[in-house]
Amino acid sequence: MQARIVYKDFSKDYLLPMVELANLRFGDNYINTEDLLSYITDRGGICTLAVDEKEKLVGFCLFYGETSENISEQLKISKEEILSVIEEDCNLCVAKSIVLEKSAQGMGIADNLLKINLEKAKNMGYDYVFAAAWDKGGGDVPAKNVSVRNGFKFLKTSSMVWINCKNYKCVVCNGPCRCDAKIYYRAL
Ligand SMILES: CC(C)(COP(=O)(O)OP(=O)(O)OC[C@H]1O[C@@H](n2cnc3c(N)ncnc32)[C@H](O)[C@@H]1OP(=O)(O)O)[C@@H](O)C(=O)NCCC(=O)NCCS
Repeated sequence: MQARIVYKDFSKDYLLPMVELANLRFGDNYINTEDLLSYITDRGGICTLAVDEKEKLVGFCLFYGETSENISEQLKISKEEILSVIEEDCNLCVAKSIVLEKSAQGMGIADNLLKINLEKAKNMGYDYVFAAAWDKGGGDVPAKNVSVRNGFKFLKTSSMVWINCKNYKCVVCNGPCRCDAKIYYRAL
């Protein structure tokens, strides 16, 4: 499968399949088309799609630009913790989602999506990226290996980062998400 995967920039044709894929893998109401489009078009979004030979979406990676104040609030990292790993006055982005169809896992597609998005983020002038990697419990952190392989460093564990996401029904919690997040960061 990997040989037939094409990596594309975001296009609106894939908006609905992206929402469907994310909601399938993370849980109902993880995101909707309006919010997804807003991340990409209004919030300095960086997005790469992986599509198969039939042009069907099999995965995507999304970053967006964010202030250190909002990263502090959203990812539950103190300003001091942020400043301990970055320089002041630099441009920050957040790795919002990396997700694949289950059948597309374990082939290096996540690796390619992340590499491409990191390169785009660097070219757009971002200096650092922060990521909240979903901790599904029992040591299952799906994005850990791909993140570490691509130079991300572990900062801390933040608890219940997604608890206030309106109507989101996490597939692990079967309701409001009480999962922890492993916070990673990387210089670009
Ligand atoms: C997170 C996610 C995108 C990772 O995808 P993945 O394909 O499992 O990526 P990984 O990098 O962990 O696994 C790649 C595996 O493929 C194999 N592989 C085969 N060819 C490869 C290649 N060219 N490059 C890298 N790995 C390759 C490796 O064995 C590797 O295993 P390893 O990590 O033990 O070394 C995927 O698990 C997913 O969509 N999960 C559900 C959504 C989710 O949790 N997203 C993260 C939220 S923070």
